[in-house]
Amino acid sequence: MLIQSPWTPWLSKGEGSPSERLVAALANDILAEKLLAGDRLPAHRDLAYRLQIGLGTVTKAYGLLERRGLVRTVRGSGTFVSAAISRRGPTIDLSRNAPPSLMTERLFTRTLSAVARKSDAAILSSYPPTAGHDEYRRQFARWLNGLGMEANPSRLLLTSGAHNALWVAFSLLSRNGGPVFTEQHTYPGAVALSRLTGCCLIGLPMDQEGIVPAALDEAASAENGPKTLYVTPLIQNPTTSTMSKSRREEIVEICRRRDIIIIEDDVYRLGPNASLPPLAMLAPERTVYVNSMSKSVNPALRIGALIVPEAYYAAAEGVLASTALMISPFTCAVLEQWLLDGTADAVSKAIQEEARRRYSLTASILGSAMRRSDHIGYHVWLPMPSADAVNFETMARAQGIIVTPPLSTSTSLDTKEGGIRLCIGAPTFAELTSGLGAIANLRRSQLQAAGQPA
Ligand SMILES: Cc1ncc(COP(=O)(O)O)c(C=O)c1O
Repeated sequence: MLIQSPWTPWLSKGEGSPSERLVAALANDILAEKLLAGDRLPAHRDLAYRLQIGLGTVTKAYGLLERRGLVRTVRGSGTFVSAAISRRGPTIDLSRNAPPSLMTERLFTRTLSAVARKSDAAILSSYPPTAGHDEYRRQFARWLNGLGMEANPSRLLLTSGAHNALWVAFSLLSRNGGPVFTEQHTYPGAVALSRLTGCCLIGLPMDQEGIVPAALDEAASAENGPKTLYVTPLIQNPTTSTMSKSRREEIVEICRRRDIIIIEDDVYRLGPNASLPPLAMLAPERTVYVNSMSKSVNPALRIGALIVPEAYYAAAEGVLASTALMISPFTCAVLEQWLLDGTADAVSKAIQEEARRRYSLTASILGSAMRRSDHIGYHVWLPMPSADAVNFETMARAQGIIVTPPLSTSTSLDTKEGGIRLCIGAPTFAELTSGLGAIANLRRSQLQAAGQPA
């Protein structure tokens, strides 16, 4: 005799139809192993009664779960968690936005012995100046010049990656918890930072080129509105949108007219891109510029830079000194070596070549589900309604594929238009191929279930 299932899902009051929320709740509980392979789900009528939802809603949700392989129905017996979905095998992580890792142990051995041979022990054993040693600042500025950013070393502070530079910029410009304009969907680290620094991010509507100028202008017209804009004009994270030169000029014109200071996050400037000048070159007097070596050479190096207008320099130094204090000269010595012996350049080119190979693979597997971009980084964007995105992440996780939780890239819980970011740089090529195959199937069945063309 089959016993009655004692389990009832907790149905959130969040976004999405009741059947979508029931699907998400069931998938979550399967993943959390509150329900194990072979467990029997409550009968349709019983669950509808307990959750006070329609019988059709339960039928629809169970049908959807079955199409996705999460449960199976045995005629006359009931609906059961399928063995296939309760997998414990290795997961495929498509949530970490890192470049492909191409550095070998041999390269590190060569680098470290060269650093050891020529380093100045005094430099390596004492506190450097807060902004870093002048020579290292000049070297970083020269690297940025090669990427098309005219960087003045005397305004440049070396930081522990771009994230540390953003921390300084946010603390500096959103003093007293002032709000900051940004793109509707943004870098998850910025969402987290805004919470820490107490400033509220105000997401603005976007199109293929990022923030819509008219939306910025209108929002900025409000009295006592934000006076800071955080923006990633090139290969925006997560949406991949890239501002054309004319869009950049429009944004800068509005910021000048409305007296807005810009925090420009340019970490995806991977080549000279002469036709897409940094905002910091179009409006140097009002742009705080952020970049790092993380996406172009090596994220483990933890080296980044903040370039600020003169008026902000002393304050930026003060914030840096009170947070990370300063960047390690060991890191700078490695960077110096890579810049001098050509490693940085060669590795950067190799990473981009590999990124292109991965992008082609991704485009061929995901087809029209993914947004196309002329500029290639390490993430792609699958636009979809926010409610679908939340479900999608849960369903992917249930299949052992980790994608970035959509709420972590969203500035607001009310945003209707959302999407899923897939990071294609970090996994092995084989993992990427298999993960993307599963992602494509998942999206297809999600669209089919909603009666939309897949
Ligand atoms: C837009 C953006 N800004 C900043 C960062 C942080 O970079 P870093 O590793 O140099 O701290 C990232 C990392 O993913 C990013 O995507």
